[in-house]
Amino acid sequence: MSLRQFISARKILRPFQLIKDSATIGWNEMASLFGLNDDVFHNPAHKKIDKPVTAILIGAGHRGTIYSDYGRQFPGELKIAGVADINPERRKRFARIHKLDDTVCFDNWEEVFAREKFADAVIIATPDSLHTRPCLAALEKGYDILLEKPIATTEEECRLILQKAKETKRIVGVCHVLRYTPYFRELKEVIDAGLIGDIISIHHMEPIEHIHMSHSYVRGNWKNSKNTAPIILAKSSHDTDIIRWLVNKPVHDVHCFGNLRWFTNSNAPEGSTDRCIDGCKVERDCPYSALQIYFRDRKRLYVFDLPDQKSKWDEYILEQLKVTDYGRCVYKMDNDQPDHLTVNMLFENGVTAGFSMEAHVSYEGRRTRIMGSEGDITGDMESFVMTRFKSRKKTSWSLKTDAHGGGDHRLVRDWLQAVYQQDVSLLSSSIDVSVESHLVAFAAERSRLKRTIEDIKI
Ligand SMILES: NC(=O)c1ccc[n+]([C@@H]2O[C@H](COP(=O)([O-])OP(=O)(O)OC[C@H]3O[C@@H](n4cnc5c(N)ncnc54)[C@H](O)[C@@H]3O)[C@@H](O)[C@H]2O)c1
Repeated sequence: MSLRQFISARKILRPFQLIKDSATIGWNEMASLFGLNDDVFHNPAHKKIDKPVTAILIGAGHRGTIYSDYGRQFPGELKIAGVADINPERRKRFARIHKLDDTVCFDNWEEVFAREKFADAVIIATPDSLHTRPCLAALEKGYDILLEKPIATTEEECRLILQKAKETKRIVGVCHVLRYTPYFRELKEVIDAGLIGDIISIHHMEPIEHIHMSHSYVRGNWKNSKNTAPIILAKSSHDTDIIRWLVNKPVHDVHCFGNLRWFTNSNAPEGSTDRCIDGCKVERDCPYSALQIYFRDRKRLYVFDLPDQKSKWDEYILEQLKVTDYGRCVYKMDNDQPDHLTVNMLFENGVTAGFSMEAHVSYEGRRTRIMGSEGDITGDMESFVMTRFKSRKKTSWSLKTDAHGGGDHRLVRDWLQAVYQQDVSLLSSSIDVSVESHLVAFAAERSRLKRTIEDIKI
């Protein structure tokens, strides 16, 4: 046999070998194969809720309505008892859906707390810069809280909320929804069972996807870090949280590089105009054309208060592209969020983790590589493959869920149990553990701006 024939025979054989040793299975099979929990979300400490927890929603936008929807699906567990939003259309629409009368609808969060306490809890889903004041007011009034991340936009405010939660002994759940996705829950189960030995290091990537980046962090609510929060906090505190959770040890040191490389004035193509509808010469070829994204493809429309009648949508969307930032050229914005960054973390037990956030990608879904002393795992949010060194066996797991991996409502369920039973231990993402991931994000931003290595002091 010639060398060439030998090599091509090996090439054919290799895939067969892989197929023989690998199996793509569901979680149940994986669990029974390795003696893990069949249902990673089953908590024997959960009780049947015999009287629904009542909650007031503060901020009836995109996130607030998702959490409140749980009450429509499970009316025996959650009853929405009031709403506050400065936007009258959102407030009215929400009140209609949740059957709220005018006496419990408020046009500002402050009015809720001017009243005597009239529900068990509040859900705070206002913009980033408007978390601290409603949260402190709610704690003062004795409400338990479901708080959107980021907890607050400064380290001082995060610590203040933590302090107040401890003083008042109220339950504060933070919406780190990734902890409630099957993907990360089952990864954690595999790691905690020791199937890949000790964690040595982690590579984790968050591909934001280029259109999503343009929508939220170039044109949208989070385009300017000074008015909201640095992207590492606004977008990636989920990731600092999940890495910390998997390693299960405190972070010691953090370092970050990153910058805004592409969405700047100097990259504006010739012939581009301030708005895509102003006769831009490159509109048809631009991947970020607002006309393409919002008008022709009708994507990401949840930021608009669309008319109920679909026949009116065309006219309405075109008007939004004339008057809102969503119609502006991505190269001519007042944005400052980095479109790529890398963070290095050193944990107390010597584990290292490298995290990168990338905007210039065509796909979404976090990518994870976990290196252990006895095996490794690679995953992409829909599946993961575990390879064990001794047996050389590969086991693949797969599942398809929504963008948050089904985490939003599972988070609400755990939070309701914690509130109903007044037991914070039922909550994975309590304020105590969530603050730490925020401190890592603040340290990373300091490091990026000052070119330093920052240590973490809890
Ligand atoms: N957990 C996650 O994965 C996740 C994902 C996206 C956004 N978020 C966070 O959720 C929060 C809300 O984001 P969103 O996308 O729902 O924003 P949104 O703009 O859709 O909703 C915010 C709502 O707050 C209302 N509001 C503003 N000022 C108010 C005031 N003074 N009183 C009462 N209501 C007021 C607005 O009118 C709006 O309806 C943000 O902090 C955001 O960073 C978290």
